[in-house]
Amino acid sequence: MYKISFIFGCLLMPFALLSQGLLSNTGNRKMTTLNGNWNYIVDPYETGYLNFHSEVFDQKNANSPSAFYNNYHPKNKLELVEYDFDKSPLMKVPGDWNTQKEKLFYYEGSVWFRRTFDYNLKANKRLFVYFGAINYKADVYLNGKKLGIHEGGFTPFNFDITSVVKAKGNYLIVKVDNRRFKEAVPTLNTDWWNYGGITRTVSLIEEPDVYIRDYNIQLKKGRHNVIAGFIKLGHAVKNEKLTISIPELKIEKDIETNTEGDIEFELAVSELIKYWSPGSPKLYTVYIKSAYQTLKDDIGFRTIETKGPDILLNGKSIFLRGISLHEEIAGRRANSEADALTLLTWAKQLGCNYVRLAHYPHNENILRMADKMGLMVWEEIPVYWTIDFNNTATYNNAKNQLTEVITRDKNRACVIIWSMANETPLSEARNTFLVNLVSHAKTLDSTRLVSAALLTRSENGIGVIDDKIGAYLDIVAFNEYMGWYGGDLKTAPDAKWTSPYDKPVVVSEFGGSAKQGLHGSKDERWNEEYQAYLYQQNLLMIEKIPNIRGVSPWILTDFRSPRRLLPGIQDGFNRKGLISDKGKKKKAFYTLHAFYKKMAGQYD
Ligand code: GCU
Repeated sequence: MYKISFIFGCLLMPFALLSQGLLSNTGNRKMTTLNGNWNYIVDPYETGYLNFHSEVFDQKNANSPSAFYNNYHPKNKLELVEYDFDKSPLMKVPGDWNTQKEKLFYYEGSVWFRRTFDYNLKANKRLFVYFGAINYKADVYLNGKKLGIHEGGFTPFNFDITSVVKAKGNYLIVKVDNRRFKEAVPTLNTDWWNYGGITRTVSLIEEPDVYIRDYNIQLKKGRHNVIAGFIKLGHAVKNEKLTISIPELKIEKDIETNTEGDIEFELAVSELIKYWSPGSPKLYTVYIKSAYQTLKDDIGFRTIETKGPDILLNGKSIFLRGISLHEEIAGRRANSEADALTLLTWAKQLGCNYVRLAHYPHNENILRMADKMGLMVWEEIPVYWTIDFNNTATYNNAKNQLTEVITRDKNRACVIIWSMANETPLSEARNTFLVNLVSHAKTLDSTRLVSAALLTRSENGIGVIDDKIGAYLDIVAFNEYMGWYGGDLKTAPDAKWTSPYDKPVVVSEFGGSAKQGLHGSKDERWNEEYQAYLYQQNLLMIEKIPNIRGVSPWILTDFRSPRRLLPGIQDGFNRKGLISDKGKKKKAFYTLHAFYKKMAGQYD
């Protein structure tokens, strides 16, 4: 067993996450959007960040006119300034630069973005700037002052700008750097496009001086009629009275925080709770009221647990009829509510009750949409393939991304699984890294299940699922590519699998590629008939795997990948989608749909 010893004692964060505590539920706060056209400057040599001896301006000579974040303009006809945001082109935020600007399709480097705004902030109010996500690293400045940096391309962060914002002429400037590097999370090699940019929403959030920063309101673990959680205020200096109310459950409870603004609570519920489930995705309106503000959220209540090989939702054994998704639609980063509705509607048409959001936290829109539409969710951090498992900063980065996604989504009933990793190579360092992440996830959220997409091995022709990490997971999930990366589809239905764990097993990936519209014999790779046959044979095999309780085939839609280069077939896309990047369904879509129709009758 792996001792859960922290890899490195002190919590060194060279990536120096300086953003204050994350604001939750930003969509229901007093928000001014900064989405829209931003000026941008492509800066491959980081001319606006480093002097000619590669010293960082904001650490060496912060007021330098050459530092782009100073938004400088020449004071006279002689002064030398070699950039000008006012005369620079525009790009849409949120959005990736690769698909917005043809010259940036393959660009990996730094791009500066600038947004100007006025804001009349009244006394006793606070103002935050909130970013849904920036891929990959962001250096953020307001009016020439460095607010901080954030590393990690798929989780939100915010900065308190109360002391920096002006009534007129604010300039918010962000250096976005999407270069890949060995110590990053994810690391150098991924099978998805490295979309760079301010890829999710940006907003100004106005709060009272003492504000409701974060809260957790869910069923207490193992209890069906007790709601428990915490509330954290920001900038509290004394005990504060709060009221939690859930009108439909006839709950109205007054509580009081400590002097730091923190409170933990439990609410006994006498009314009958309508539990959240895919078939009945009931959400309750919850209000948190302080002396200074009232915050509203829509929260579902349900239990999720495992018992031997079973996954129990509200005490009932379920089968996860899933599909994997990248955060991509029509060959670009997905980010809007409309994108989320399109993707999850396709999942519902497939007969899914569950989606695997691979390989990184997706945008909040799709989580709130899954809550509403009734789809259970597997969320994952991008600890993908050959991460630098021996590196402190890498571990702390992964841990920070896990903290940020759990902070953001811990009130979403649809989320049932936190996934620590995908197809990571076996090693002692990797095991310790993952075991510590599991421990951290359980510390932040004891109510949800933890898993990871593992690899398997073959022994005398039998598939063996005995990755040591399985001992620490609630669900043993694994990826298999029978009929695509090996194996014989003809005999697949007779393949045997074994695992030492008396736990639920989920096939987190299987699949094969097909060019939509290409037809031929089921014995020829790349056509739709082959893909459909691969699905048919894999599903016959999967339903016989001991303890099988779910599957999320790879993948809902074709997606861009720099690794998929076969002309006329892949053309820079991974074609394992059941739907093409043009939104056209392939034959295998209907093969999976038929299987799920059959499974639905058996479980729920
Ligand atoms: C792997 C991996 C995916 C990848 C897929 C493929 O299992 O998890 O990210 O896209 O296989 O090879 O298509």
